[in-house]
Amino acid sequence: MMPALQIDDIHTYYGDSYILQGLSLTVNAGETVAVLGRNGVGKTTLIRSIVGFTPATRGRISYAGDTISGLAPDKVMQRGLALVPQGRRIFRSLTVEETLTIAMRERPAGSTRPAWPVERAYDVFPRLRERRTQRSETLSGGEQQMLVTARALVSNPGLILLDEPTEGLSPRLVKELQGVLRTLHDDGVTLLIVEQRISFALALADRIYLMDKGKVALETTPEQLRGDTELRHRYLGV
Ligand SMILES: Nc1ncnc2c1ncn2[C@@H]1O[C@H](COP(=O)(O)OP(=O)(O)OP(=O)(O)O)[C@@H](O)[C@H]1O
Ligand SMILES: [Mg+2]
Repeated sequence: MMPALQIDDIHTYYGDSYILQGLSLTVNAGETVAVLGRNGVGKTTLIRSIVGFTPATRGRISYAGDTISGLAPDKVMQRGLALVPQGRRIFRSLTVEETLTIAMRERPAGSTRPAWPVERAYDVFPRLRERRTQRSETLSGGEQQMLVTARALVSNPGLILLDEPTEGLSPRLVKELQGVLRTLHDDGVTLLIVEQRISFALALADRIYLMDKGKVALETTPEQLRGDTELRHRYLGV
């Protein structure tokens, strides 16, 4: 399989705090990969390092064969990566439709992939179509998560990075999001999902990396993790 995203031995700091301490992983084209780990192990820092918000000081990250470490975030996005950040940050005063239209218009200059029409995003998230004229701040938490996910989709990314997309969602909305991500996977989109919710990762991932103290502790599969209580306890505390 062709690696889409390849991370080789990255080291990332916040000031003097040494967070990622030699992390390596690979996501193959078309794969859904989950990174699981407890609070504070560095999952968001990993995402921030990939996108370039908090660049790694050592190591190399490549996407589709080209080095992206060292590029500014907008240049990274231009290559076809999209981010669904933790905590679903939205522009509260914009409506659903304005949010998606702006996301489409503000795709990184130089993108070679055609944008999605907003209607296609509504086909994936019919509930957003119903709420298209509503201001984002009045959406429920689950609807806001749909909106940030849809906002990532309209740029038609080749790789979507999702940082704890199920945080704060009801079980019903988790199921709904799971269905959407599975559809994207079936459409060939590559997904890297950072999560604490183990059941979500088990349901979606082709492969799983368990993270501990700024490193990958272990690469595993949903089948293996499902059957191994000791492993779940050691790395996830569940
Ligand atoms: N801006 C920052 N400045 C200094 N330290 C930071 C900063 N952001 C995060 N950290 C620290 O880096 C470590 C890793 O944080 P990170 O947000 O990557 O963890 P996480 O695995 O995403 O956790 P969670 O599951 O709670 O989202 C933590 O100890 C955190 O306190
Ligand atoms: Mg985090």
